[in-house]
Amino acid sequence: MKKAFTVVSSHRVASRTAFRGRCLSFASSAKSAVWSSSPRNLHVQCSSSNTLPLCERRAVHTSSLEELRKWRSWAQDKAVSVGDKYRIADGGPDSHDLLRELEWMLEDVVSHVPMSSSPHCMPNGSKDCQEKQPNTFLNAETYDGPSETLLETLAGVRHVQHADPLRALKWRDIKNFEPSDFQRVVYLRASLEELSTLWTERVQHRRPFQYVVGCAHWRDFVLFVKEGVLIPRPETEQMIDLAQDLIDLQPNLAKGLWADLGTGSGALAIGLGSILHPQGNIVAVDVSDEALFIASLNIQRYELQDKIRVLKGSWFSPLEDLKGKLAGVLSNPPYIPSSHIATLQAEVGCYEPKKALDGGQQGTDDLTCICEGASWALQSGGYMILETNGGVQAETVANVLDSMAGGPFCDIQLVKDYAGIVRFVKAMHV
Ligand SMILES: C[S@@+](CC[C@H](N)C(=O)[O-])C[C@H]1O[C@@H](n2cnc3c(N)ncnc32)[C@H](O)[C@@H]1O
Repeated sequence: MKKAFTVVSSHRVASRTAFRGRCLSFASSAKSAVWSSSPRNLHVQCSSSNTLPLCERRAVHTSSLEELRKWRSWAQDKAVSVGDKYRIADGGPDSHDLLRELEWMLEDVVSHVPMSSSPHCMPNGSKDCQEKQPNTFLNAETYDGPSETLLETLAGVRHVQHADPLRALKWRDIKNFEPSDFQRVVYLRASLEELSTLWTERVQHRRPFQYVVGCAHWRDFVLFVKEGVLIPRPETEQMIDLAQDLIDLQPNLAKGLWADLGTGSGALAIGLGSILHPQGNIVAVDVSDEALFIASLNIQRYELQDKIRVLKGSWFSPLEDLKGKLAGVLSNPPYIPSSHIATLQAEVGCYEPKKALDGGQQGTDDLTCICEGASWALQSGGYMILETNGGVQAETVANVLDSMAGGPFCDIQLVKDYAGIVRFVKAMHV
C-alpha cells in the first residue's frame, strides 16, 4: 500500500555557493527530466600532468598585461563560437556560461602573490598541523592519505607577504587597466600556452570547468577535484542545512558520530565537520581510491583530519563495529538509472566517474543498500538523510524505509530542494 509521506520545503532560502558549477547538471526533476543525447565522439583527454589546482600553483610564469589581454580575446572568440549548440544538444554550457568561466579561470591563474618558495606552513596554521593525530573512535584501518610531499607543495604557496603592491593585484583589479598599463608584468600560475590547452579542453572537448581548474566551490569551501572524483553539486549543499536543522532541534546529535557514505571529494564530511560540536566525529567512506585521495587532501586542507576518519570500503562494510552507534548518516550515492548514463550532458557522461553516477536499473540499488545498513548502524533517535534523483525515486526510497521489516524507521519525510523538486529523504531510527 502506498503511503503519503510528509513533503516539506526547506526554510533556508538559498545556496551559499559562489556557484561556479551552474552549467553542470545531472540531478533531474522527475517531472521534467529531459535526457537528450550528447556527442559520443568526444575525444576525452586532458593535460592534467600537473594535479595541483590552478589557484594553488606557484606563479612562476609572467606575461605582459597586453599579451594576457590578447590571450583572453582569443579565448573569448572560442567561447562565442560555441553559441548555443551544446545547450541544444544536451543542456550543456552556452557562450554566456563559457565567457563567465573564462573570467573565473583568469581569477584563478593571475597571481596576487609574488613568486616564492617560502615559507612553508600549512593552510591557516603552523607546520605542526601536518602531524597527524590518530583519532580513535573506530577500530578500523584508516585510509592512508596524501603524501607529505604533495601537502608541502601546497603549503609552499601560502602565507607569502606582498612586498610589492603592484604584484598584489588580482585579475579583477587589472582587467580594466588603461592601455598605458599594458606593458606591466603579470604573474601567472600557468603559462599562456598551458592556458590555451586547458581552454581548448574546456570549450572543444567539454572537459568540466572544475576539472580544468582543479577545484569546485561548494558552500563556503573550495574543494580540490580531479577526474575520478565527482564534482560536488549545489543541490547537495542543502543536506548540510538539513543536518543543521536536526541539530538545532536535538543538540546532542552534534556530539555523536556521523557517517558520510560515498564521500567523493569529502564535501559532505567537511560540511558536517563545520557544524558538529567539537565532540562530534565523522567517518567518510568510499570505494574509490581517487575519491579517498582527494577527500583526504581536502580534509587536511581544512584541518579536519582529527575529526574525520577516511575509510575504504563499500557503504557500511567498514563500519561493522559501529552497530547502533551512529547519530547520523548522510549519503549522496549513485542514483542515475543505468539506461540514462549514455544520454547525460557530455561534461558529466564523458568525464565523471561512472561508479559515482550509475545507481543500477532504476537508480535505487545503492539507496536501498544504504537504507538496509542504516537500519542496524543508526542509534535510536539517529537520523539518515539521503539525496535522490528526485520525484518518484524519492518516494520509492521513502516506501522502502516505511516497509522494512520490524519498522526500524519513523518520521520519514520527503524534502524539496531549492528548485522545488522532491529530492531528499529524511528518516529517524526508532
Ligand atoms: C554521487 S557521488 C557523491 C560524492 C559526494 N558525496 C558528493 O556529494 O559530491 C557517489 C560516491 O559514492 C561512491 N561509491 C560508489 N559505490 C560505492 C560503494 N559501494 N561504497 C562506498 N562508496 C561508493 C563513489 O565513488 C562516489 O564518490
